[in-house]
Amino acid sequence: MKLFESDYFTYKNNQLYCDEIPVEEIIDSVGTPAFIYSKKFFTDRYNEFTKAFSGINHTIFYAVKSNSNLNVIKTFYDLGSGIDVNSAGEFYRAVKAGVSPGKMILTGVGKTAGEIKLGIENNVKFIKAESEQEVYLIDEIAGQLGKTAPLAIRVNPDVNPKTHPYISTGLAENKFGIDSKSAYKLFLKAAGLKNVKPLGIDMHIGSQITSVEPYKEAVEKLAGMFQKLKSEGLELTHFDIGGGMGVKYKDETPFTPEEFAGALLPILNGLDCEVSFEPGRYLTANGGILVTEVLYTKSNQKKNFIVVDAAMTDLLRPSIYGAYHHIQPAELNGTAKDITADIVGPVCESGDFLAKGREISGCKPGDKLAIFSAGAYAMVMASNYNGRRRPPEIIVDKDKFFVVRGRETYDHLLFDEEIKPGLFEK
Ligand code: LLP
Repeated sequence: MKLFESDYFTYKNNQLYCDEIPVEEIIDSVGTPAFIYSKKFFTDRYNEFTKAFSGINHTIFYAVKSNSNLNVIKTFYDLGSGIDVNSAGEFYRAVKAGVSPGKMILTGVGKTAGEIKLGIENNVKFIKAESEQEVYLIDEIAGQLGKTAPLAIRVNPDVNPKTHPYISTGLAENKFGIDSKSAYKLFLKAAGLKNVKPLGIDMHIGSQITSVEPYKEAVEKLAGMFQKLKSEGLELTHFDIGGGMGVKYKDETPFTPEEFAGALLPILNGLDCEVSFEPGRYLTANGGILVTEVLYTKSNQKKNFIVVDAAMTDLLRPSIYGAYHHIQPAELNGTAKDITADIVGPVCESGDFLAKGREISGCKPGDKLAIFSAGAYAMVMASNYNGRRRPPEIIVDKDKFFVVRGRETYDHLLFDEEIKPGLFEK
């Protein structure tokens, strides 16, 4: 099998390390399954991205939805990042991580009145509207609070990001944003409202996008609208490109931040405004692994199976998107022969697999496997199905590791749930 290594996850003396710590040492302390993240990866990716755009007035708003551990949020915030929150729950997490609401933008296709109120009361930097009704609701709530809400409108530019249909968001058939024509009119209407100030145009065309072309196409479309609205007298100051920058899971060749900047800067330079980005996956995905232990191996006439102690409840992406995550042993054994196997979890679903038909070096019960690219959309999508406790999260900082969230206990599974005797009275 082809080994995956990076500057952050490497083998020394056949042992997998995260930065300067052997993975085995962490697992001896916390058990499996467990998520392990590299702080250096997060820092390097953020610095690389912001450097590529240093020629333009820009802000990165880390998309918390990709990995919402408080310490991950704080890592990016301390580097100077703003934070993109999609719900009151993410807002709560960001506040708990020490983020000032003025550094947050509030997004989401279905924000409730309560969430909008929370955003306005706390003076978030922007509230993004995704429908005409939402613009009027934001105006109404801001009026009740005696405030003016800083508004951005998410436009659906109708471009094809050529990604998995479940994570494509910028096509007319997707539920997100407002089509360009209607959005243009809505901006003009919003400019006439008393309690909102339309300041920004926003887009987010999808996730795991590996070519700059769809971005160029969308930004060109919206840049035209931006200029036109300004010539109508709107004081637009922000252009938000959203997130979606793809990463390498297997053999993709995603664009680099420099290539991204090279493609977009010529269009953005003419706009004379602050440009925002909302990367999630790019900043986190390849900064994490999920370590699991082999429980059993078995074969039938058709297949080999490796049953591990991680499941779809810990990493859902293979089950719902057919996503590829590289898997390899945490300790290399030079003599083990490669086999082809399905790597599956303990959950009672045939859809509970981490890899199908995967070539992997033969392993035995007790061996540890590392599942790569598990820093984004992994723990945040974990569940308690089948009575499973969500795994701990560990951040490695050079030669130290920190358990930044412990393994859930059985009590967590019963949160606020109890037998109500009255229900059983005869
Ligand atoms: N901004 C908005 C408005 C978004 O909806 C998203 C992601 C982002 C930014 C960050 O996108 P990123 O840079 O991470 O691609 N669960 C799926 C991904 C869903 C993405 C949802 N929105 C997966 O595991 O692939």
